[in-house]
Amino acid sequence: MEHKNYKAFPNNFLWGSASAAYQIEGAWEQDGKGPSVWDTYTKQEGTTYKGTNGDVAVDHYNRYKEDVKLMAEMGLKAYRFSIAWSRIFPEGSGEINEAGLQFYDDLVDELIKNNIEPLITVYHWDVPQALMDKYGAWESREIIEDFDLYCQTLFNRYGDRVKYWVTLNEQNIFVGLGYRSGVHPPGVKDLKRMYEANHIANLANAKVIQSFRKIVKDGKIGPSFAYSPVYPYNSDPKNILAAENAEEFNSHWWMDIYVWGKYPEATWNYLEDNGLAPTIEDGDMSLLADAKPDFMGLNYYQTTTVEFNPLDGVGEAKMNTSGKKGSSQDSGVPGLFKTITNPFLGTTDWDWTIDPRGLRIALRRIANRYQLPVLITENGLGAFDDLEADDSINDDYRIDFLETHVEEIQGAISDGVDVLGYCTWSFTDLLSWLNGYQKRYGFVYVDRDEEGPKDLRRLKKKSYFWYQAVIKANGLVNRK
Ligand code: NOJ
Repeated sequence: MEHKNYKAFPNNFLWGSASAAYQIEGAWEQDGKGPSVWDTYTKQEGTTYKGTNGDVAVDHYNRYKEDVKLMAEMGLKAYRFSIAWSRIFPEGSGEINEAGLQFYDDLVDELIKNNIEPLITVYHWDVPQALMDKYGAWESREIIEDFDLYCQTLFNRYGDRVKYWVTLNEQNIFVGLGYRSGVHPPGVKDLKRMYEANHIANLANAKVIQSFRKIVKDGKIGPSFAYSPVYPYNSDPKNILAAENAEEFNSHWWMDIYVWGKYPEATWNYLEDNGLAPTIEDGDMSLLADAKPDFMGLNYYQTTTVEFNPLDGVGEAKMNTSGKKGSSQDSGVPGLFKTITNPFLGTTDWDWTIDPRGLRIALRRIANRYQLPVLITENGLGAFDDLEADDSINDDYRIDFLETHVEEIQGAISDGVDVLGYCTWSFTDLLSWLNGYQKRYGFVYVDRDEEGPKDLRRLKKKSYFWYQAVIKANGLVNRK
């Protein structure tokens, strides 16, 4: 849709930025924290780029005041961060670690003191190792009670000051990479186990939304979903159907459950035919239907283009975790779809498509299908940055990326989508799970690399000043 003039961003628009505990905090065993699955997984040979882990990360745990000061100076309106479950319950349940609760109390207070709205993610992939050892974490229904207890503890402790809450971050990614491709913990390749674990995660998500309603009466809660809108390669009907398959299989499978408590039909049938459908017990579907979120959190990075894939076609393929452009391969689900290069789009060094308009399409599709406001919980560019001799970082490519995405958000708002805010990924540089430290996303450069933490100095990149100006103007400067 073309507009003569775009609508302005709402006055209370949350210009924010985001992070996750394991990727920034470090202090992996400080002050009584227990290990999470990521603490153990990254220490197994060959799991991550150059063996990197989050033991120190960017040491945010010990430097959070310095980081919040940089946020305040930028004028940031909102900061989305996650809580490490095993800092609160080192064993996953049972005894509470007060020092862990206190750390996030201090962080929340520091943010509020600086007029920054805290947005808490309760789960960003770091399930306590103790629960993995005890019952296989997401593979057991026992986790529903433990997760609920953990979340209730957080709602009770921070709910007076924190009004925006995110439940599960990218459930599709943590189960997909954990149990389909086996490159995230627990490193399993078993589709049946994946769909069972995913169903249990859905139940846990619903349960904590119900608890939230009782404890934080004036708050808003929703999942953050990794949505990659699917395009058909061309107008050949067999490719259109492949795109329908992919959209349902990759995204509706999760978002329909979050909002309607229903699994989409075609995918359900496909899974049943292949012996992969999850076990549904009495009461499951009513729990799922009774836990509607207040918003859809959207993690948007790229779109996916697909074409027809025969029953004997391609399946899983290699991911690019090295930053060598072109090293990833097309992948698919035989009989449903396969990915193909979109000739209209450029890519990052990690082979992610760059598609700002895709963000507008994502916002439009979510708003239309689910009739919910959307909170953009992540969006950003992973790139190599150069630290110049004068300590400057001239990341014009990141500014271009973010600017074109912000423009499309404004387009979506003008189309009528209720967008609550925009959290870029990320504020400081951080550990990129499998890709080490060289894939940088931040406005603030952190002087460390795969070889070691160096001095962990914080340096403002050029994009820091760009976002500062955008926030001040409540929108793009010099644009319509
Ligand atoms: C989404 C994840 O939530 C985040 O943890 C990750 O670093 C970014 N994607 C970039 O890959």
